[in-house]
Amino acid sequence: MIRLRFVTRDGDVIAAAGCEGDRLLDAAQAAGQPLEGSCNGQLACATCHVVVDAADFDRVPPAGGDEEDMLDLVPDATRTSRLSCQIRLTEVLDGMTVRIP
Ligand code: FES
Repeated sequence: MIRLRFVTRDGDVIAAAGCEGDRLLDAAQAAGQPLEGSCNGQLACATCHVVVDAADFDRVPPAGGDEEDMLDLVPDATRTSRLSCQIRLTEVLDGMTVRIP
């Protein structure tokens, strides 16, 4: 299992976990986080936007050009924003913290 911590809009910290190969989006939804993911990973909605903790950001494989383009359209995007549908969980990401914007 890959351990994850979600920081909610209210600042609560939720401990969760996902399996290797799962999308971060699916792990977040399974943990009850309100990410719509309405295009189901087609890079067409950005409703799966999350903010990776700065301390963990370098562990996450970099975003592709299409993801960057979509993030440019997200009004509250930050330097460590990502689209959670594009992140596959691996051991490298164990213990990462992700904020739900
Ligand atoms: Fe639509 Fe991620 S689910 S871009």
